[in-house]
Amino acid sequence: MSEIAKLKVGKKEIDLPIKKGSVGPSVIDVSKLYSETDHFTFDPGFTSTGSCESSITFIDGDKGECYYRGYPMDVLAEKSNFLEVAYLLWYGELPSKTEWNEFSDAIKNHTMVHEQLNTFFNGFRRGAHPMAIMVAVVAALSAFYPDSINISDPAQRRISARRMVAKIPTLAAMAFKYSLGQPFVYPDNSLNYSENFMKMCFAVPAEPYKINKTFAKALDKIFILHADHEQNASTSTVRLAASSGANPFASISTGFTSLWGPLHGGANEAALNMLKEIGDVKNIPEYIKKAKDKNDPFKLMGFGHRVYKNYDPRAKVMQKTCHDVLSEIGNNDNKLLQVAKELEKIALNDEYFIEKKLYPNIDFYSGITLNAMGFPTTMFTVLFGLARTVGWLAHWKEMMVDKSARIGRPRQLYTGAEPREFKDLSKR
Ligand code: ACO
Repeated sequence: MSEIAKLKVGKKEIDLPIKKGSVGPSVIDVSKLYSETDHFTFDPGFTSTGSCESSITFIDGDKGECYYRGYPMDVLAEKSNFLEVAYLLWYGELPSKTEWNEFSDAIKNHTMVHEQLNTFFNGFRRGAHPMAIMVAVVAALSAFYPDSINISDPAQRRISARRMVAKIPTLAAMAFKYSLGQPFVYPDNSLNYSENFMKMCFAVPAEPYKINKTFAKALDKIFILHADHEQNASTSTVRLAASSGANPFASISTGFTSLWGPLHGGANEAALNMLKEIGDVKNIPEYIKKAKDKNDPFKLMGFGHRVYKNYDPRAKVMQKTCHDVLSEIGNNDNKLLQVAKELEKIALNDEYFIEKKLYPNIDFYSGITLNAMGFPTTMFTVLFGLARTVGWLAHWKEMMVDKSARIGRPRQLYTGAEPREFKDLSKR
């Protein structure tokens, strides 16, 4: 017999089923709570709430481990490639050779975007933040590809997901080129996913472009590390948007919107800006003091995580990738890296950070790495979004075939005025 939890509300006692996952904590199913007790649960920030069943990613926050479909993410970062990880996240298994060929060819087939999208870009100011552009152009894909927005048709769902993974790098590179005032570079399907993206970002028509293999490999790893992270803010946003039946392009664009915030995807930009602001190892104590001061809103960017209460496993891979990239450009004495390492050392030995279990997260080293590869800070969140598109789509695909999925509609604890009578303006 399955386990139950007992809950007493006033004089009434009810049984709540406990559901077990394959690994990790069980959940208490409270879906009948309102009908049986007239009460809702209250959990701002969803710190104790599971919103769905999922078999994609598992995070063990206490141990600092993360698995994609059962495979440790750091092993995948070392041994796999981003597109193969996309296949794994979507279909649950690593591809066979035939499946790999079909999948990678199909993605390559869709890398170009509708030519009319160029005109769409011209409507933006040159100084526009590339995330502002991404939010708009990803949603606009539904206007350019209306033949794949019917979510009830499995063939259309499949093609829209593949289109997004193929085209979002092209759009991201276009957003970057637009900000530089340089011409757009068309995709080159003879290259792999990350090499092609590097070329679209950094090639210019006036010169031949040589792929830097170390950078492309590092970027591919960064994409793998960012591909999915279970029910985080942007993924939950995509799920909620899609739960109404919104089309796939519109749903994925909400992921970009949510990711843009400094507490989520914007943190790598914020972390690099913070390291630049600290500037020198000698200024670190002052910033540690600010981070600990309850009356100061300053937080150490790139530190802390809602789920990880141990070293973020992605931060470990990221730190090594950072070294690889800096060695490639002969910049091992990089000042920002020195500040980052010292800051990490001091914070990890400080009572405040130990007690609150605050460890470096993935964003702590990613900014330095991306910066060294030539990306401006404004592009960091775009790269994160490009990679997370794969995860958002994995969750979207999962919920599309989940028979228990319903429109997402949280409840509230109302604290406003009680019902009252309207008074005409002349009587107020
Ligand atoms: N610096 C200083 N203190 C911190 C930090 C930090 N980076 N992070 C958390 N704390 C403190 C909080 O002030 C709070 O203290 P209190 O208990 O005295 O009130 C305590 O630690 C718990 O923190 P919360 O903010 O309640 O934890 P929550 O799970 O809500 O937030 C978050 C997690 C948003 C990541 C937070 O740690 C943070 O803002 N970090 C900096 C931003 C960042 O790096 N974000 C990237 C996250 S990873 C990602 O999105 C890919």
